Amino acid sequence: MERFITNMPKTELHLHLEGSLEPEMMFRLAKRNNIELPFPSVEALRDAYNFNNLQEFLDLYYQGADVLQTEQDFYDLTWAYLQRCKAENVMHIEPFFDPQTHTDRGIPFDIPITGILRALEDGQVRLGISYKLIMCFLRHLSEESAFETLRQATPYRNQLTAVGLDSSEKGNPPEKFSRVFEAAREMGLLTVAHAGEEGPAQYIWDALDLLGVSRVDHGVRAIEDPILMQRLIDESIALTVCPLSNLKLCVFRRMEDHNILDMLDRGIKVTVNSDDPAYFGGYVNANYLALEKALGMTKQQAIKLAANSIEFSFASETRKARLLSELQLFARQHQCEL
Ligand code: ADE
Ligand code: ZN
Repeated sequence: MERFITNMPKTELHLHLEGSLEPEMMFRLAKRNNIELPFPSVEALRDAYNFNNLQEFLDLYYQGADVLQTEQDFYDLTWAYLQRCKAENVMHIEPFFDPQTHTDRGIPFDIPITGILRALEDGQVRLGISYKLIMCFLRHLSEESAFETLRQATPYRNQLTAVGLDSSEKGNPPEKFSRVFEAAREMGLLTVAHAGEEGPAQYIWDALDLLGVSRVDHGVRAIEDPILMQRLIDESIALTVCPLSNLKLCVFRRMEDHNILDMLDRGIKVTVNSDDPAYFGGYVNANYLALEKALGMTKQQAIKLAANSIEFSFASETRKARLLSELQLFARQHQCEL
């Protein structure tokens, strides 16, 4: 099964670039930028990656991002992720980045975005990995700060595909950002949002109705609301689910309790993603593999999940057709259907 998953063509639609910062790189960049980390070693840092909830993770994640200072740092971070994608047969990616994590500590807006875009362009040319970049607003910050971030992004409008919403979900409902999302849509950007990860199913309704999202990030708590489930099915709204993340952040107690395959079988357009792989113990293939191990995911289910990851991406219709035909070929070789 491991080889099957590795060879299967797929995309990744829910990945925070700052969450792909491996401890080894964190130490390397800290040294390069003369920053002292509050951990004595890579091992001690990894040992700290035990979280009871989203906030405990976010506290460490924002602290870790402090080592990212220069355009080259953001290039190196993104390039390392692209190389993982190449090794895992991830052919298209739609990574998130959080500009406010950097602008709030005095890094100019242009630094992260230019480093990231330069690496993504190189990845397209040298590795054949297509991309669409998504800029997230941090929902624990104010609406005003989100508007300021959108203003700073204006010169990069054509390099961005969508805006998203991440960080502390509870107590920061979608409604807080309805106006800034409306402004983003008026600029022609698509929208996505984290909803129903720790927060209630109502936040998924609100992400759809108040933020006009094309996809919901996480969304696993939709299962608590049958009317919402029917809406997601009727309107073919994809969920970007992150199994290892959900386990590490205690959204589910055990992987055996995860609802992704149940949702898949009920006709919800779920996809598999890694969220913050450096913190949660694995990239996208490890997430597929965890589903096989804990839930007995079949090859047919894996192919359906990969097909969703292509179909509900923001790639061009031509690119999607190309990726689907590669997946089709792979499926036939394994006596599966798309
Ligand atoms: N930022 C990075 N990872 C996140 C997650 N899983 N939920 C909310 N915000 C995040
Ligand atoms: Zn996320």
